Amino acid sequence: MSYESLQQLAITIRGRRTIKMFEQRSVDPNIIKDAIEVARWAPNHHLTEPWHFYLLNDDVIKRSIDLIRIIVTEKKGEEIGNFKAQDAKKRPGWLIVTCKKSEDELTQQEDYASVCCAIQNFSLYLSEAKLASKWATGPIIRDQRYYELLDIDSNKEFIVGLIWYGYPKILPKQNRKEIDEIITYID
Ligand SMILES: Cc1cc2nc3c(=O)[nH]c(=O)nc-3n(C[C@H](O)[C@H](O)[C@H](O)COP(=O)(O)O)c2cc1C
Repeated sequence: MSYESLQQLAITIRGRRTIKMFEQRSVDPNIIKDAIEVARWAPNHHLTEPWHFYLLNDDVIKRSIDLIRIIVTEKKGEEIGNFKAQDAKKRPGWLIVTCKKSEDELTQQEDYASVCCAIQNFSLYLSEAKLASKWATGPIIRDQRYYELLDIDSNKEFIVGLIWYGYPKILPKQNRKEIDEIITYID
């Protein structure tokens, strides 16, 4: 790999941003399927392939928004519940990513790590396609009512993320610490 293509890879990784504001246009489902195909090439100990990807249609999105309103209202009151539901209405694409449950603690930890890597792969692919995403872990992903709505068996898998995706309105700026703050050389 040339220095230029390495730098291109670095630009892609650095350039992926969590997006809160999306354009109101839909995404070609083939791009999302391609992104999922790439996502599952994440590192995965024992090749358990613990991930599953649920793509929501308009009706399920609508019911998800209703449930967000209900859950947030229960926790924080009607005003914030309505605000969160209105906000959720502006997200064009909805993807749920789950991880297989395991009784073995180490396997569970490693499987969860693999699913997180897969979500990063998915996000990077979208970013390179000039799309963007937001990985959300709000209370809905832990609520049994959402498992029932999606027909996901909570004894067998758990939701790692609700991924909103679409074309970004703006790419926000982000910072990270200085590189030397996070490296320790052990001699
Ligand atoms: C496991 C995980 C959960 C996250 N959950 C949320 C969330 O619930 N709401 C949210 O606004 N952002 C969430 N994010 C996105 C982070 O806030 C975001 O990655 C961070 O602000 C850095 O921005 P960047 O992704 O553009 O670098 C989550 C990210 C990760 C990795």
